[in-house]
Amino acid sequence: MAAKRPDHWTSKAYTTSAPFVPRLTSTVLSYLSPKPTDHILDLGCGDGVLTSQLASSVPSGRVLGLDASPSMIETARSSYLAHHPNLEFRIQDCTRLVEALASHPELDGQWDKVFSNAALHWIMRAPATRESVLAAAYAALKRGGTFVFEMGGAGNVAEVHTALIAALVAQGVPVLEAREASPWFFPSEDWMRTELEKVGFTVEKCEVEYRPTRMTDEKGGGLAGWVRLMGAEFLEKVEEERSEEAVGFVCELLESVVTREEDGSVWIGYVRLRAVAKKL
Ligand code: BEZ
Repeated sequence: MAAKRPDHWTSKAYTTSAPFVPRLTSTVLSYLSPKPTDHILDLGCGDGVLTSQLASSVPSGRVLGLDASPSMIETARSSYLAHHPNLEFRIQDCTRLVEALASHPELDGQWDKVFSNAALHWIMRAPATRESVLAAAYAALKRGGTFVFEMGGAGNVAEVHTALIAALVAQGVPVLEAREASPWFFPSEDWMRTELEKVGFTVEKCEVEYRPTRMTDEKGGGLAGWVRLMGAEFLEKVEEERSEEAVGFVCELLESVVTREEDGSVWIGYVRLRAVAKKL
């Protein structure tokens, strides 16, 4: 979801291939524990499904969702704004959150909660953005405020990640370049705890959970749909007319690894990293 790259995100592809992302959120939402008056900033809000639920849970508060994808923000606005007067969406590349806060002082130090679900592994991909994104989350909070998030942790979707690199290599991309094409950063809980503390947070929770996740049976979805959508930045490395060959390679390679014998269902090894960090 970095700026100036093609916008791969459409709400339709997302709901066909990864509808579970906003659904499997009960733990992180229980950590967020919204109060009716909370002002919540949602980093990487996507198509706004979860952001609109947050708005419903803070009837006397306010929620602002930020995302770099114009297509996702357009969907979020048209789907939810009419029903939630306390909800707003802005196109904002969260890799540049520090600059955004500097040019919008009304956002800086104003939030009771900063929230993010399944987005920070994209936003923090570039080493240069990592500390600045965490520092910006800290700056955005009021004193006493809380940063609550879930993202991919170390080892997340390791089988598909490996197969995508292999698919590029099979098409002649040098292995270092294939690795570099990865749009994700999946840190360990030790790394995250240290970095949160470095920018000033008091870490109340930082945990990982292995959570295998079932791919959809939708036409256009399944593992292939997931690879096309989530792996789009890998697939940009191969010639357009050979992109489907790479998707097929990943699915073939993983067939027996991800398929359950008892019912033919297909599962990817998601690893969730969750944290609750306070600005005291
Ligand atoms: C995740 O939510 O962990 C994730 C989603 C898409 C690609 C990689 C990871």
